[in-house]
Amino acid sequence: TVASASDINLWEKSTLNEILTRGELQVCLEAGYIPFDMRDKKGNIVGFDVDIAKSMAKAMGVKVDLRNTAWDGIIPALLTGKCDIIISGMTITAERNLKVNFTDPYIVVGQTILLNPELEGKVKSYRDLNNSQYTVATKLGTTADYAAKKYLSKAKLNLFETESEGALEVINGNADAFVYDLPYNSVYSAQNSSKVVHLDTPFTYEPLGMAVRKGDPDFMNFLNNYLTQIKGDGTYDKIYNKWFVS
Ligand code: ARG
Repeated sequence: TVASASDINLWEKSTLNEILTRGELQVCLEAGYIPFDMRDKKGNIVGFDVDIAKSMAKAMGVKVDLRNTAWDGIIPALLTGKCDIIISGMTITAERNLKVNFTDPYIVVGQTILLNPELEGKVKSYRDLNNSQYTVATKLGTTADYAAKKYLSKAKLNLFETESEGALEVINGNADAFVYDLPYNSVYSAQNSSKVVHLDTPFTYEPLGMAVRKGDPDFMNFLNNYLTQIKGDGTYDKIYNKWFVS
């Protein structure tokens, strides 16, 4: 048996074939989502996503190019060919999945709360926060934004362009709480332990996936098998343990 003409045509158009021909994997991500995508002291973008991207590029035998892209433009950037893939802590949602395809989840997170310490004991969960007397901050266009609108509809919601601006609102006393993905809040509360209280029981279920353009089964096949392989052979655990210290 031989591959049919249409299979060969599909492969020729595959992003994976393009990456191999180019010799470079181009990754869209947005630095600021600690510890997945962030800047080190020298200004380099580092993190969990970056190490996974690098190990993947190595398996392809190509270089990696990290393309820092603002969150609100990251799906359009993928769709217009500015990168091959989004690896940026993106939650797989049905709405996003209508525009892009997602790999199998590479980690599961959920929304948690960074609380003003003065409210400790008074606000014990997201349910207590759903009250018109409270102001909640988070990042625009994220699943935290969507979760706040759904579960904290009575609270006043202030949206910011970056994670750090939102979290700072609690420290400044401008917001009672910051809602965001658990890993970000864990790191932030560890770094600001006297200034925020972390209510660390997630109140949403959020698998994170890598996003690619639709209609490309060859690229998707590589990505999902690569994830299965590194989850089983210790590579994933090694990268995980480097960034998620308990
Ligand atoms: N998981 C959240 C979402 O998908 C936040 C991801 C933010 N990622 C980033 N690189 N800033 O909406």
